[in-house]
Amino acid sequence: MKRVLLIIAGGIAAFKALELIRLLRKSGHGVTCVLTDHGGQFVTPLSLQALSENKVYRELFSLTDESEMGHIQLSRSADLVVVAPATANILAKMAAGLADDLASTVLLATDKPVLVAPAMNVRMWLHPATQANMKSLAARGVQVIGPDEGAMACNEFGPGRMSEPPAILTAIEALLAPPARPLDGRHVIVTSGPTHEPIDPVRYIANRSSGRQGHAIAAALAALGARVTLISGPVSVPDPSGVSVHRVESAREMLDACQAALPADAAVFAAAVADWRVANASDGKIKKQPGAAAPALALIPNPDILATIAAAGPNRPRLVVGFAAETDDLLANAQGKLVRKNADFIVANDVSPETGIMGGAENAVHLISAAGVETWPRLAKEAVAARLAARIAEALT
Ligand SMILES: Cc1cc2nc3c(=O)[nH]c(=O)nc-3n(C[C@H](O)[C@H](O)[C@H](O)COP(=O)(O)O)c2cc1C
Repeated sequence: MKRVLLIIAGGIAAFKALELIRLLRKSGHGVTCVLTDHGGQFVTPLSLQALSENKVYRELFSLTDESEMGHIQLSRSADLVVVAPATANILAKMAAGLADDLASTVLLATDKPVLVAPAMNVRMWLHPATQANMKSLAARGVQVIGPDEGAMACNEFGPGRMSEPPAILTAIEALLAPPARPLDGRHVIVTSGPTHEPIDPVRYIANRSSGRQGHAIAAALAALGARVTLISGPVSVPDPSGVSVHRVESAREMLDACQAALPADAAVFAAAVADWRVANASDGKIKKQPGAAAPALALIPNPDILATIAAAGPNRPRLVVGFAAETDDLLANAQGKLVRKNADFIVANDVSPETGIMGGAENAVHLISAAGVETWPRLAKEAVAARLAARIAEALT
């Protein structure tokens, strides 16, 4: 059973809160009511208590309430906080962060999603103060339903009527629904971080990849329900939770781990794999000899992990996503890579030092597919990951 904490403020639409409680109970949800002082002028605690089959809370400083359930606990005990009706006054208090009665204190203390159903005279609703308050509440993630337009109790006409209880119930149930998990039952391989290519047992060639983007992608895919195998080069970012992590060092180890993790529904190759490794890597530490020339390092190509896994065959994942980190001719190079490597998507980013992308917190990418090029705005790497995970889910369903 989901629990709703319903705050009823002092508006004429408070009578509709009674119908809302009845609908919520009928749909199997638990309801606890908080009534403002002025709300108590419109509906009685007795009606709320009878319909919700629960104690009604009114006083911030009620000793009994504090011993039974303090205001902090009250603000956290529900799955969702709903304000219906939400008066101009309570919306202004929420926007300003005031906490001068039980309702506003609960709203400031809650860690749960909040839905408001504004209800007021049309002038009050259209007043720049109310509109500015609504804007700042929306920016903070407060959900809003209504108000509707129509005839009002005050004989005026316009926006300001509280939404009808069935519509509020629908909005509540959308917010209470468990998050969509479109990748449930899917297996996705993600590579992340740099590779280290040994010169000798203590020295290696590496690159500046931090693993932040690849790890964020693994976390975003797991959040959509995927079983994620994250194959990571040496990084210092923490392991994402709910993901199976395999640590590797070199490109060859990364390829082996990818092949061992198949079959998969999708594979995302976000790791910055070294293109070359040292051909003549030494088994022992190369000694500096007085007067001797510096050792010459001969490089040979590493296996191409993206092209190997994306090549047609029975084990090819249905969707293969490659990354193109370029400093020049980004789009042309990325489009070439899409075709040459047989990938389905290429995520292209400009890693010139002035972009601050390599190792940074943000990324600005283009998503390239057979359908064309999509340019995404510069976003936090987590936000890029969430968008990409959603696109992968779309492509697999
Ligand atoms: C008859 C009557 C009806 C009212 N209806 C509303 C209303 O629909 N919306 C609103 O924002 N304020 C309305 N008010 C004004 C609020 O009751 C007043 O702003 C009050 O301070 C709100 O307190 P609260 O937000 O703590 O409940 C009404 C006042 C009266 C006397």
